[in-house]
Amino acid sequence: MDFKLTEEHLMIKEAARDFAKNELLPGVIERDEKQEFPKEQVKKMGELGFLGMMASPEYGGGGMDTVAYVLAMEEISKIDASASVVMSVNNSLVCWGLDTYGNEEQKKKFLSKLTTGESIGAFCLSEPEAGSDATSQRTTAIDKGDHYLLNGTKNWITNGSTADFYIVIAQTDVEKKHRGINAFIIEKGWKGFDIGPKEQKLGIRGSDTHSLMFNDVKVPKENRIGEDGFGFKFAMKTLSGGRIGIAAQALGIAAGAYELAKEYSKVRKAFGTEIMNHQAIAFKLADMHTSIEAARHLVMKAACDKDNGENYDLSGAMAKLFASKTAMDVTIEAVQVHGGNGYVKEYHVERLMRDAKITQIYEGTSEIQKIVISRSILKD
Ligand code: CAA
Ligand code: FAD
Repeated sequence: MDFKLTEEHLMIKEAARDFAKNELLPGVIERDEKQEFPKEQVKKMGELGFLGMMASPEYGGGGMDTVAYVLAMEEISKIDASASVVMSVNNSLVCWGLDTYGNEEQKKKFLSKLTTGESIGAFCLSEPEAGSDATSQRTTAIDKGDHYLLNGTKNWITNGSTADFYIVIAQTDVEKKHRGINAFIIEKGWKGFDIGPKEQKLGIRGSDTHSLMFNDVKVPKENRIGEDGFGFKFAMKTLSGGRIGIAAQALGIAAGAYELAKEYSKVRKAFGTEIMNHQAIAFKLADMHTSIEAARHLVMKAACDKDNGENYDLSGAMAKLFASKTAMDVTIEAVQVHGGNGYVKEYHVERLMRDAKITQIYEGTSEIQKIVISRSILKD
């Protein structure tokens, strides 16, 4: 495995790092406290090309590879995971899905606005009765000739109130089970489409998470993505790539916390010396560094698999499983290295610890990643 980065990769990494330090770091604590969406910052991310990195240039995308995308995700997540989840959903769940499976009209109408940040996207699979068990869709879209009639509730939707376009997964034929599921593009403001209140969250508090209610929403036939019955495969294939982005987010959260802990250990003194000179602290840093490096290798392997046209279901699931555990372990230890200061907001590590937890839950819980991994390794 050769993970040698190109000049372009290094430039993108640096641009993302600068953007995170200059634009996201100021105000990150206040946005977390007030659950405030980083509106201006997301607008700038769009202008800088961070919202449609992998999408085709003819639709305004950056035409970059997955390696470039995970490098940018890591840098931005070191500082602000609320901003990076907006980036992750828009890039890998919405733009990638439309670019790969949408038709020409859909790409012109929706993708070209999503890649630039002129519009924001959301991906709506989860329901109150269908989270991990994603084939148990209760939302229905009944074929009425020239349109579908959409009814049901989606929950936990990231970008729930800020999005303009929503990819909604729904059951069109119950008899056919998961082969009777379709994906549709829904626009904000359509009659019968309501957005519930913002969820009050433990972490990634700057991102807006909402339930969405659909009551007899008329969806034009041309808004279905792909062939009839392709919706569940569409969701699974899209999520396989999305999980690489979330793995990179987890890696960034871990790396951000580690860097803060390392710096703190060099300046904080106890028992007449900097705490880095106590082996208990130095060993914590050694463990953090080792697991972050291992997570980075898994993330890069999955990104390279995707770029090289290899199957990335397994490598993406392994990267997400391991990087999210690393994010949890490392952030807990980073708080410990900071002592009492770790427990207060101004040192950032308590926020990173709260943000880390979601990476073990969304885009498939750790238990679901183990299902994907075990099925893959045992299928032969
Ligand atoms: N690619 C293509 N097709 C796939 C696939 C993949 N990676 N994985 C499964 N499929 C297909 C299967 O081939 C099967 O189709 P056929 O019968 O036609 O062959 C169909 O999907 C059903 O597959 P399974 O029988 O394996 O289905 P299952 O009920 O056992 O569930 C699962 C599989 C992997 C557990 C799946 O339900 C799953 O991924 N659950 C987690 C849901 C999830 O990740 N949600 C995330 C929501 S988005 C989000 O969270 C965004 C955010 O936070 C920011
Ligand atoms: P459940 O499926 O009820 O799981 C509960 C527990 O049981 C978990 O520990 C799970 O791992 C375990 N479990 C379930 N089934 C099995 C099994 N077969 N074997 C072993 N263990 C099992 N969804 C979207 O569609 N779009 C979004 O944008 C989005 N954003 C989100 C943002 C946030 C902040 C949150 C919290 C969630 C978001 N989600 C989104 C939903 C997320 O993907 C689901 O929460 C997740 O897939 C788990 O589903 P669930 O919450 O229903 O948990």
